This record gives sequence, structure tokens and C-alpha cells, in this order.
Amino acid sequence: MCGIVGYAGTAPAQDASSSTGQRALEVLVEGLRRLEYRGYDSAGIAVVGANGIEMRKKSGKLVNLLEELSSNPVSAASTGIGHTRWATHGGPTDANAHPHVVDGGALAVIHNGIIENYSPLKADLVASGHTFLSATDTEVAATLLAEVFRGLPEDGAGSSEGAYAGIGGRLAQAMQLVAQQLEGAFTLVATHAEEPGVVVAARRNSPLVVGLGDGENFLGSDVSGFIDYTRRAVELGQNQVVTITADQVEITDFFGVPAEGREYLVDWDAAAAKKDGFASFMEKEINDQPDAVAQTLLGRNDGAGNLTLDELRIDPAVLKTINKIIVLACGTSAYAGQVAKYAIEHWCRIPTEVELSHEFRYRDPIVDERTLIVSISQSGETMDTLMAVRYAREQGAKTVSICNTNGSTIPRESDAVLYTHAGPEIAVASTKAFLAQITATYLLGLYLAQLRGNLFQGQIKDILAELAKTPAKIATVIANSGQIRDLARSMSETRTVLFLGRHVGYPVAMEGALKLKELAYIHAEGFAAGELKHGPIALIEEGQPVIVVVPSPRGRDSLHAKVVSNIQEVRARGAMTIVIAEEGDESVREHAEHVFYIPETSTLLAPLLATVPLQIFALELATAKGYDVDQPRNLAKSVTVE
Ligand code: M6R
Repeated sequence: MCGIVGYAGTAPAQDASSSTGQRALEVLVEGLRRLEYRGYDSAGIAVVGANGIEMRKKSGKLVNLLEELSSNPVSAASTGIGHTRWATHGGPTDANAHPHVVDGGALAVIHNGIIENYSPLKADLVASGHTFLSATDTEVAATLLAEVFRGLPEDGAGSSEGAYAGIGGRLAQAMQLVAQQLEGAFTLVATHAEEPGVVVAARRNSPLVVGLGDGENFLGSDVSGFIDYTRRAVELGQNQVVTITADQVEITDFFGVPAEGREYLVDWDAAAAKKDGFASFMEKEINDQPDAVAQTLLGRNDGAGNLTLDELRIDPAVLKTINKIIVLACGTSAYAGQVAKYAIEHWCRIPTEVELSHEFRYRDPIVDERTLIVSISQSGETMDTLMAVRYAREQGAKTVSICNTNGSTIPRESDAVLYTHAGPEIAVASTKAFLAQITATYLLGLYLAQLRGNLFQGQIKDILAELAKTPAKIATVIANSGQIRDLARSMSETRTVLFLGRHVGYPVAMEGALKLKELAYIHAEGFAAGELKHGPIALIEEGQPVIVVVPSPRGRDSLHAKVVSNIQEVRARGAMTIVIAEEGDESVREHAEHVFYIPETSTLLAPLLATVPLQIFALELATAKGYDVDQPRNLAKSVTVE
């Protein structure tokens, strides 16, 4: 939530990379363009040039800020900060937009997170004569930072060295002192007119990475904030302050003690985060899915049925003693976990629970050293999941993170990580990450089965061989999606859609409903088809669209027959039935208004195919309604507050 970008480069006069001296502005705007998926309630920038701080901000999407910048340009500058907001404290207004400029116009601050003790801090500041222009907690932190900055001697006299140590000077020291006082989760970034060329940031439980350039350095909520300029990134730890100038990066803790960050090379480039000619990122990411699954499988088995999960740095002896698995995740990632439960229990015979991360630690869960926690998160920054993982570790559990974002917090705070290699997912609605997550959990399940001897090598080899065929089958589903697209477009007036599924089809049904809710703002519910007669069937009336995910007739035959009965039951009460079934399953035709076929596969792998038409259905229906499928209302890609 909220996208942050910071930049320190060369002084405009020597700025060879930009004829206009607007390099800082260019970098900030490009960074915000790429980070806009994190929030789009407002956008703003502040640059530090010869005229001191110049700030522009506007409520609404980035385009509003760009219009403002073209009618009211800023001067050439070498340093700056930028912010795209998902509103927490205070509505999405111009006044509440970031940056917040204080200290008589000399200090600009942006923030992601929630400062929990902002109220007493604000009361103290009001008592000492400060006034506030916004309803945000950020302005409180900014005002406090200004006050602490002004309270420090300009030359650092009185500090242990008699002058400010390091490159950050007074601003860095003030930031450390303020960070010590703040409670909650925050990334705060500041730049001050009296220290031009310097950007200082503090981070606790909120994302921030550093980008290393040549004669310029960057800050971003994630690497997409600077991926156009560099792939060299540095991870920061919790409770750290970082200062960047054009040619230096300095990291300390909140008490000024020097710290190190881990440098890494981002394994994708700017082109991977472009639309590639597709109308939306979501459409592109749906089309990326064959690759996302293939890349996630790549290099993780030796071809003979032996899994080689080298990144899984938990002692195999420990994994052999595990007697319970708890999957922790939110939203789409939690549905991937629900799919995984069926496979892991079937293959490994280890009891597996799936829990929404935000519910987990409040129910006094039974967790000990024999519990394996598997967290699933595309972003690796979801605060609910991070907190649940921390809690589980405190109880002695081993934690594995299934994550799509290198360098993010959850994998760093876990005992082991299994990366999904889906590439950057920009659309707020998750698609390719979901399929990659299912794939990764299956690899984990097979690895545990191999380690614990639950499956023979030949069985594992067969499953892996079938998984390897999945990317081509997903591509077939996408290529044959014309019919479901036409249907979706014809249903733009629909008010409510029900989804039914059984076994692994149940989480798929819930995922289909979630996609429709978040993209088309249509009421949609996913039910276990067996639950129908226990209540939900009362919702069925003439013309009610019901989408049913039908299991393979070749697999669990009894399930197939039961789902077909469920279709008949809703149809008898007037439902308009839309069925996702396996190629060749003619038995469903007579019970359905519309049938969409997916290629044959085993029961457990079917979610990798059956989800795709549901994604496309939601995308097309939302597009027909004229909605922005990449940036649905009220949402943000990365939920970094609890
Ligand atoms: O980054 P994460 O996977 O932890 O995110 C979890 C959910 O917030 C996310 O899946 C959300 O439900 C998506 N908008 C679904 O499309």
C-alpha cells in the first residue's frame, strides 16, 4: 500500500543524462508510474533544486499529477521524492496527498504505513503551537521530524564526534531520533532544502529497497520503482535508516549504529513490467501464465523424479519430523493454499490447515517445533501474513515462504523460501501468481513426500511429467477463450453470479468469485457445491447465473456425478448454468446453457486450468462495464497495513 520513490543524482548543471536538468523528475514520475498499482488515491512529488523544495500533489490517479506538472512545472533538480497513495488516515483529498511539506517549506516527507501513536504525538505538537493542514498521521511525523531537526545544532556540535558522522548529517540524525519515537509500521522518506542532494528514509515493518546506480541512487517500495534505471538492489533490514546521495548509500539502525544491506541483482528487467501490446497488465499476465508455471518448475527436479529444492534451507531431518502444516495467506494466495491442502494431504499424509493470516494469531493456535508453516504471498509484504509468520516463529515453528518477490520481507523473515518465478505482477487482481503459487506448493508437497517416503520415485516422476505438460494446456485454454469472452461481454448487466465447485474445484470457485467481485464490482460468491442444499440454494431464482467447476469424469467419478446433480438442482430452480468441464465430458451438455472445455489433466492439477476461464470471464465482464481492470476501486496490490 502506497508507493514510494526517492532519488539522489547529479546536480542539474552537470546532468548529462537529461538535457532539461529534469532527471530527478523523470525518475520520480517513471517510478510512480510503475508503483501506481500499490495505491491510486493520490500522487505527489517534491524536488530539491536551486529554489529549495518544490512540491506538486493531486488527489486521484497519477494522470492528475502529470496534468498539474505540465501546467505548473517544477525547476531543474538533482534530488526528489515521490508518492502514490492508498488512503489510511484521512480521505483521498489534495490536502491529504503526500508529500507533506513542513518547516516553513524546507522539509518534504512521504510515508507508507500507519503510525499508531500519532494521536499523542499530535497532541504534544499542537500544545507546542503547531498547526496541521491534513488529517494524516504522516504530517504529524513530518512536523516532529522538523522539530527534532531544528533542535539539533547545524554543525553537529555536541554529538560524540563534534560533527555529524556519515553522509546524512542532521537530517539522518533527526530521522533516527524520530523513528525511535514512532510506533506502528512505517517507511518514512524525507528531503530537506538545507541538505540538498540527500534523501533519508527510515523503515519498520514496511517495505523499502535501495537501487544502486552510476552517479545516482534510488529508493523504492519495491524494485519496480527504479527498474528502468538499475537492476542492482540492496535489501534493508527492519528498524533501519538509509541515506542516499548521488554516489553513496549509508545504512544505520535507529541509533546510528552502522549496518549492512544485502546487495542482489533483480532477475527481471523493465521490459517484463510492460504491457507488451496487451490492453491491460491483467490481460498480459493471464497470457504470461504458461511461462509463470514453466519458470516455477524450471530446475527443480533432475528429470528422474528427484526434486532438488536447493533453496529450501531447512534440515531434511527436521522436515521429516513435521506432524502438521499450517498454510498462512490472504485473498487469492489463501485460495492457492486451499488447493494445496488437497494435494499435500493426499501425497504426504500430513494434516494441513489453511488459515487466513489475519485470523491466525488471535485464536491461540496450536503451533510447536513440529509444525511447518507455509506462508504464501505474491508480494512478500502482506502485513497480516508477515505478523502471522513472526508469531509462528516465536512459537518455535519452522517457516517456509512461497513468494514471488525477491528481497521482500516475508521470505527474509522465514527459515526458507521457495520463489515462484512468475515475473512481476502489476495488475492488482492476482492471476499468474496464483497459478505459480499452486505449482510451488505442489513442488513442496512432492518434496516432502519424497523425503518422508510417502510416494515412490516413479509416482513423483509421473506427477512432475504431468505438471510439465501444464503450461501448454494453459496456453490452449487462453487460445480458446473467445467463447467465454463473448459470454462475459453479454452479461455486463448481471447483478450477481454464484460459483460452485467441489474438492479442488471449491477454492477455484471462490477464486472465480473473488475475481468478479474485485474487477466488476458484482456480487459473487463461491460455494462448495455440496453445501448448496444447506442454504445457498435459496438464492437461486429465474435466470440466476451459476458457474460450476466440474471435476473430471475420469478421476473421482462419484464427485463428478454429484456435481452434475448439483447442476440439475440449480437448473430445476431456474438458474442459468455455465459449466467448466473437461474436454470430452459430454454428460454436462444437456444440463448447461454454456459449456467451456479445458484439456484433460489429473484431478489435482485441474485448478491450473479451470481457473483461467474464470479469470478471463471477470476481465471481460469488467472491461465491458468500462472499468479499469488493472486498478480496481478501493484496492491496492500490496496490503502493507493490518
Ligand atoms: O501479496 P499477497 O499474495 O500476500 O496478497 C494477498 C492478497 O492481498 C491478494 O491475493 C489479493 O486478494 C488480490 N487482490 C487478489 O486478486
